[in-house]
Amino acid sequence: MKQGARRVLSDRVYQFRTIILGAGAAGMMAAAHAGPGVLLVDHARAPGEKIRISGGGRCNFTNMDVGANNYLSENPHFCKSALARYSQWDFIEMVSRHGIAWHEKTLGQLFCDGKATQIVDMLQAEMAKAVAEVWLQTRVVDLRHADGRFDLRLDREGRTFDVSAENLVLATGGKSIPKMGATGLAYEIARQFGHDVTDTRAALVPFTFDKGRFADLAGVSLPSALSNERARFSEGLLFTHRGLSGPAVLQLSSYWLEGEEIVVDLLPGVDCIGALKSARQAQGRRSLTTELGHMMPGKVVSFLGQHMDFKGNLADLSDQRIAALSDALHHWRLKPTGTEGYRTAEVTLGGISTSGLDSKTLMSKHLPGLFAIGEAVDVTGWLGGYNFQWAWSSGVAAGQAIIARHDG
Ligand code: FDA
Repeated sequence: MKQGARRVLSDRVYQFRTIILGAGAAGMMAAAHAGPGVLLVDHARAPGEKIRISGGGRCNFTNMDVGANNYLSENPHFCKSALARYSQWDFIEMVSRHGIAWHEKTLGQLFCDGKATQIVDMLQAEMAKAVAEVWLQTRVVDLRHADGRFDLRLDREGRTFDVSAENLVLATGGKSIPKMGATGLAYEIARQFGHDVTDTRAALVPFTFDKGRFADLAGVSLPSALSNERARFSEGLLFTHRGLSGPAVLQLSSYWLEGEEIVVDLLPGVDCIGALKSARQAQGRRSLTTELGHMMPGKVVSFLGQHMDFKGNLADLSDQRIAALSDALHHWRLKPTGTEGYRTAEVTLGGISTSGLDSKTLMSKHLPGLFAIGEAVDVTGWLGGYNFQWAWSSGVAAGQAIIARHDG
């Protein structure tokens, strides 16, 4: 007997064509594109919880400028195919088709004018069109593969179901924000079926410093450029009670390794030497701290003055001292003690190795019917809508590949 997406074999024993684990961004997108017979499973009470809280509640759902250089992965080319086949323009078209108003904020980042829940509602509407079944508050108790089918035992709100499908899509995301239900389930299943999982760590995450180091500056923000040997990001910097945050910090955290120094440019794009020399000529009797206070927040000047020599008036400054000051302000070297970790990280770096996946379909190279998409895969985007775009693109790639598997 067929009932909706499922074929009922007996009481609580159902067959589907496709089972997707994880009703987040990637899982919902795949469910909307995988054709008939989809069961979408999640242990949470509601789908798309990270979408709901993303972008400060407005969801930075994509970026105007998306390319492989906006992603980190052991194979930097892997993401290209899926991103090209379902691009930011395709997602923008879907958003606009659903009448969701949006705007560009900065650096090509697109946000909803209204609430992020509009994106969740849109994906739910697309899934309903595809007649996908959604089981929430459902746990995977057991999983095996035999005779071309994946057999799962599921616990749905205390009741046990045996379900099977020809396709299994791993879309349970990464480890960030365990409080929101993040688990390493996709990694465990991938390993169970012989896939490698690269080392994972928290990314897009604030840096921590010795207790109280920046306490006096907590809440102060300023434009900056943060760099290390591998990357440089020119965006905002925010001091916090625990250390440093803000977009530039989150971006650099993805390129940072424990124990390394970071270099903070407190005056990005400012010709500090030229500015101080002109000020010396025009306002020689002005104090250096007053002049610096015109260039950056006064609290930051007071803080830096405890560690750098800001004494005297501008007229007292030699060219040599101006050069040294400029160097200190453009290259403030700091050594974070660590990061806030998965507790607050926006994403998980690393994941299911791309070496075992086909980049066009996201299907396992050695176990046909097994797919991995979204953040669970070793493809990690920059801050700015790139992670959602990867979730949309990889979800569509897997969905379309499932249709092709059955129709082709
Ligand atoms: P996602 O995490 O969305 O979904 C995984 C699903 O699997 C969840 O529903 C979870 O409950 C479920 N699951 C996990 N373990 C399970 C288990 N054992 N059993 C059953 N179900 C399980 N990105 C961006 O591009 N723009 C933005 O504005 C933001 N903002 C943002 C803010 C915050 C606070 C965070 C934490 C993250 C962001 N991100 C973001 C990142 C973005 O949210 C993330 O990359 C995508 O949600 C990843 O989509 P996935 O579908 O892969 O995982």
